[in-house]
Amino acid sequence: MQVSAIILAAGQGTRMNSDLPKVLHRVAAAPLLHHAMATAASLSPERLVVVAGHGAEAVAAAARAFDETAEVVIQDEQKGTGHAVDMARPLLAGAPGEAMVLYGDTPFIRPETLQAMLEARARHAVVVLGFHARDPGRYGRLLTAGDDLLAIREWKDATEAERAVTLCNSGVICAEAGTLFALIAAIGNQNASGEYYLTDVVEIARARGLSAGVVICPEDETLGVNTRQQLAGAEAAFQARARAEALENGVTLTAPETVFFALDTVVGRDAIIGPHVLFGPRVTIESGAEIRGFCHLEGCHVSRGADVGPFARLRPGAELAEDVHVGNFVEIKNAILDEGVKVGHLTYLGDAHVGEFTNIGAGTVTCNYDGVMKHRTEIGKRAFIGSATMLVAPVRVGDGALTGSGSVITDDVPAGALALARAEQVVKPGLAIRLFEKLRAAKAAGTKG
Ligand code: UD1
Ligand code: MG
Repeated sequence: MQVSAIILAAGQGTRMNSDLPKVLHRVAAAPLLHHAMATAASLSPERLVVVAGHGAEAVAAAARAFDETAEVVIQDEQKGTGHAVDMARPLLAGAPGEAMVLYGDTPFIRPETLQAMLEARARHAVVVLGFHARDPGRYGRLLTAGDDLLAIREWKDATEAERAVTLCNSGVICAEAGTLFALIAAIGNQNASGEYYLTDVVEIARARGLSAGVVICPEDETLGVNTRQQLAGAEAAFQARARAEALENGVTLTAPETVFFALDTVVGRDAIIGPHVLFGPRVTIESGAEIRGFCHLEGCHVSRGADVGPFARLRPGAELAEDVHVGNFVEIKNAILDEGVKVGHLTYLGDAHVGEFTNIGAGTVTCNYDGVMKHRTEIGKRAFIGSATMLVAPVRVGDGALTGSGSVITDDVPAGALALARAEQVVKPGLAIRLFEKLRAAKAAGTKG
């Protein structure tokens, strides 16, 4: 089935009290817009159109960052949801197949729910997604008779009897694209808000002898974000769902309530995630890897059998091959660690490649930045980098080479060589005892030695 998706994202989100357009606020390390786009993507749409208005440039950039084929149309003035969908008319009025309208600020609609709507299209020309609201507030009310949807009444325009209805409009709506735009052309703005309501398409369709129907989903799917409070609630809801899914998929979470996932985090079966682990965007963890407590990961890949942390930071471009060990207080950025590499303690590796089974001693630093440019460090296989080695990049250390502890390595080290780059040790017998005696005497006399 061919489907086009339209995501409404032109509103300012006044109640967020923010300079940022509402749909760019983040849940699970991703803008709200990306959540809606991910839901839409589950339909494998032929075309994905985002209607932007407030902060249109930034919203368009975010849309393209998620999907470079996404099309963005601009709604200069926000004249209502019907007017917003109409902005997509030049792109979609002639498109074959279905049109599905979603909101950019409603992140949790499930793919199965959209499928149910597409199936309901066999029975109705227009299908609306509804939910039974615990507190119906100012949602539009769905007025039904049996299986038929008669009208959607906006709260402002509703009678007392209509306001007593608890079946509410989520905003998601589906119809054949040509039909939808034909119906939208007939929408007026003679209502309490003076807006072009998308919801009017239901009554217009019925007046034309077309039927409308409702698919009902759980209320938590329709959770929208209008305030910071709701943004925090959406984060909590996302994390609760992501943790439950991870556990179901065979991931061990020692303390699930302390782990934070991103929208796109992928964790394999039998991976173990300790307490207080935070996943930023673009992280993949293979089966059987272990992430110990208090790690912060972003833009990285951890392979099978590897273990990380506690207290480690993997930044974008960190690639850990199988059985790599990264210990405490280690930071890795834009660096590939081949199979079996060990980086146990207090180390920074940036812009580097480390060959298989090399051991990196405690306190090693790749000095990758000269204040202007970044430089690479290449370390071979089965090398041994002594503790507190400073590797001043660009620099290469060959296979099987050894650097002495505390060395500042500025020149390449050939394979199999030992490099020592530190001052030679001087030993003065008895000098410590004489020095301390002098200092204590000075202290007793109240003077400085
Ligand atoms: C809308 C529905 C209401 C439903 C509720 C669910 C209409 C007329 N009303 O009301 O029945 O219960 O959502 O949350 O459709 N937008 C634009 N351009 C505009 C207007 C809105 O892009 O000109 C976008 C907003 O950014 C938002 C979405 O459309 O993402 C919904 O708009 P909003 O103003 O929140 O509609 P509600 O009054 O809440
Ligand atoms: Mg709203």
